[in-house]
Amino acid sequence: MWWLFLFFSVSNLRFVLADPINELRLIQTDERHSMWTSMAEMLTLKSRGVSFMDVTPHFTDTQGESSITFKREFDIQYPESFHNIKQISSLVRKIDMKRVESFINHLASFHTRFFKSVYAQGVSNSVFERLEKAAASHANAHVTKFVHSDWQQKSIIARIPGDQTDTSSVIVFGAHIDSINQLDPMNGRAPGADDDATGAATIFEMFSVFCESNITPRTTLEFHFYSAEEVGLRGSQEVFSDYAKNKKNVLAMVQFDMLGYIKKAGSNHDPVLLVDKAYPPLVRYIKDAAHKYFGLQVTEATCGYACSDHASANKVGYPGVALIEAPIKKSNPFIHSVNDVISHLDMDNVKIFIELGLAMAYDLSEMTFNITEQIKEKQTPTL
Ligand code: BES
Ligand code: ZN
Repeated sequence: MWWLFLFFSVSNLRFVLADPINELRLIQTDERHSMWTSMAEMLTLKSRGVSFMDVTPHFTDTQGESSITFKREFDIQYPESFHNIKQISSLVRKIDMKRVESFINHLASFHTRFFKSVYAQGVSNSVFERLEKAAASHANAHVTKFVHSDWQQKSIIARIPGDQTDTSSVIVFGAHIDSINQLDPMNGRAPGADDDATGAATIFEMFSVFCESNITPRTTLEFHFYSAEEVGLRGSQEVFSDYAKNKKNVLAMVQFDMLGYIKKAGSNHDPVLLVDKAYPPLVRYIKDAAHKYFGLQVTEATCGYACSDHASANKVGYPGVALIEAPIKKSNPFIHSVNDVISHLDMDNVKIFIELGLAMAYDLSEMTFNITEQIKEKQTPTL
């Protein structure tokens, strides 16, 4: 009979390994603390406001590929004057809030967008299709699926190539397309209208407006729709490890995560910038741009170790920040639940972020980042 016992143990073990709820993952809650956890334990941490990164590949990857870090050897000089008012106003006039609302409603209409749910792949496919339609009006824009190691939901990358010879440099705007019901991740309803359909709709709208305007930027613009953010930034960590490995030069990464909730109608907040591990010159540029172009006073906040995908960019040495709707304590109380619905959101607030996003995308992609000069400067010994 012992063989029967062995058979059941082995098949049970396989079930445990393949089951995302019981599977054990290595997570980090800060640089010094890692632990093996089940999904249930991760959810408890989330509900206590503890953010974490899933770093399991670092443990299992014997070649150490995922621990690759990209070391920037030069300073990045972001714009200091704000003279693109005319061009930015013309982009802002093209914002179509009906299209934005329809994108949010579409994402929220999936029962859940949880990265391993039965709906997961449908989510990334439909984001891909919508982006392809938007890209059709631009001569060179294109959209690709980033395939992940261990799950079916893809991250989607929409790209508008720059006209510079330096093809490795890129400006990235990001948001996450997955959602989660904290009480029942696999089957519970998780509309994720604010978290983060608002962010995904924002970068979708930015891409659509750039495509309609048929703009060829100097530096390549990319719009990243990440899978699997809610389970420890797994999608964006794979994307940025790949970028670092391929020596891509990400000059700025701006994440949009939760943009539409206002506690009291009419009491709109100015945008809040998450600056954990941020590159100060990028923080300076965003605050100045928001103020000079739109009269906004962006305030700074920190969210702990790793609360959204910009942390994956920072982890490999790229300058990343995130924009959010309000100071964390005043942000949407309905997230990760069945109640994160569009009726709790204020579309005018989302529009502020789209405008700011368009301004940043135009400014940053128009300036020439004289990287080779800066590297040469660093390498020339001063006598
Ligand atoms: N959208 C949240 C992050 C957030 C929370 C932004 C509050 C603004 C205000 C994000 O999707 C999230 O839930 N992050 C997790 C961490 C993640 C690494 C598991 C969190 O903060 O608990
Ligand atoms: Zn979330």
